[in-house]
Amino acid sequence: GKRVLHKIVTSDPTLNISVIDLPEGLTWNAKRRVVEGTAPEAEGDYHYNIVSTEGKEPQVLGKATLTVKKNLPLAKPMMGWISWNVVQDKISTQVVKTVADNMVKLGLRDAGYNFIIIDDLWHAPQRNSDGTPKEDPAKFPIGMGATVKYVHDQGLKFGIYSDAAPKTCAGAYGSYGYENIDAKQYAKWGVDLLKYDYCGAPGDAVSAQQRYKAMGDALKASGRDILFYMCEWGVREPWKWGSTTGATTWRATYDTRDCWQGKSGGIGVTQSIAAMKDLWAYSGVNRFNDADMMCVGIHGKGKSSSALCATGPGMTQDEYRTQFALWCMWSSPLTLSFDLTKPLSADDKAIITNADLIAIDQDAMGQQAEFVGQEGNIYYFMKDLENGDVAISATKVGSTQQQVKFDFSKFSALNIKGRYLARDCQAQKTLENEVETGFTTTVRSHATAVFRLTLKGTGIAQARTSASAQSNTLYDLSGRHANGAASHGVYIRDGKRVALP
Ligand code: GLA
Repeated sequence: GKRVLHKIVTSDPTLNISVIDLPEGLTWNAKRRVVEGTAPEAEGDYHYNIVSTEGKEPQVLGKATLTVKKNLPLAKPMMGWISWNVVQDKISTQVVKTVADNMVKLGLRDAGYNFIIIDDLWHAPQRNSDGTPKEDPAKFPIGMGATVKYVHDQGLKFGIYSDAAPKTCAGAYGSYGYENIDAKQYAKWGVDLLKYDYCGAPGDAVSAQQRYKAMGDALKASGRDILFYMCEWGVREPWKWGSTTGATTWRATYDTRDCWQGKSGGIGVTQSIAAMKDLWAYSGVNRFNDADMMCVGIHGKGKSSSALCATGPGMTQDEYRTQFALWCMWSSPLTLSFDLTKPLSADDKAIITNADLIAIDQDAMGQQAEFVGQEGNIYYFMKDLENGDVAISATKVGSTQQQVKFDFSKFSALNIKGRYLARDCQAQKTLENEVETGFTTTVRSHATAVFRLTLKGTGIAQARTSASAQSNTLYDLSGRHANGAASHGVYIRDGKRVALP
């Protein structure tokens, strides 16, 4: 019953394609090359075929499966706090309790941040003699189980960290060979998520898939629902295979640093943009590309987050606002990493609790914003939202303020003839006048403008009809060919029925 959008991207963008065998409720929009509509009500797997329409007969290029399920493991990107950037080896029950208390007190839990994830170095020097994992008793004097319970009692969830090799990135014991034992113990402790790192493991993609699958299977057999969060830094294109291991989120980059621009492999905001901008076709509900921890609020005072920076460490508020806005446009998990044991400024809090932007991140359709293009040093993105609204953004990576024109003809999700209400999501104000064909706004250096556009008049249906009213292919726009297109003999070109040539 939810709106669905599946964007089809071919390596050759000029290839003529169509989609056939669609379930009831979904249609092929040839102009935008998307499958869209309303998902069936009944739970199950629905299959359809993507075909090339270059020849006389459609050639199947790929098969797609739409899974309809009431309780998906990760219907929306995860939100929370991760210990690594500011806490590192100082992680403890005490830190976890303070962070949990402050997440509640500051209203972060109510804003949606409901995970506390402890990263590396929670471990005792060795496992227990029976092989089960053991927490550092000095850091976790009440034990991991009681620490997790404290977090649960505050209405929050708990995530833990391990690695697919004998040792973790910081040198604690890893889970390789201990997948089942570890998954069972995490389940006993009440853990809700596992971040699974890849230091010390073989470089090839096949090994990575095997090692992630081993842990994914172990988590499934653990008796508890534990989200599986992969961290192999995007090196082996996990967006193409991560979901087959049981993971629902995978890191797409190396570690983010607290800077606009990183150096020597360090990921500043500009490197995050480069890494994330073309991954939109691989993201969706239950399969999110993760742009890593946000550095909003760290102000250069973190630990590893301050390394490998070409600017900073630390960012301006406009730069932090850009980081937050882009993570939301990309449907990335929103993970905070600043020191939550210290006071939070009103301005930092405003950035991370911006309800308009969080709603864009948490949109039920799970689309990662499509990279629309770059003009000079402005990057444009566009994100389809479940209620038919469209979010558009412009990021100014250059050093001066600029007048930016949002020209509707460049955003394929917009109806060029439509009148829109425009909500400025950074200022959290709706523009007084409706906008048509485009509008102009000022974007400061390193800032990001985000507007949520609502079509006036007939709403979502109007946008859809006008988008799907044209096609230059020979195939039925409805995409519904029960026995394959060739058996029908009659096709639709530009909305008119024609006989097969
Ligand atoms: C890797 C990961 C980081 C963090 C550290 C911990 O670098 O990418 O996010 O988990 O390991 O050692």
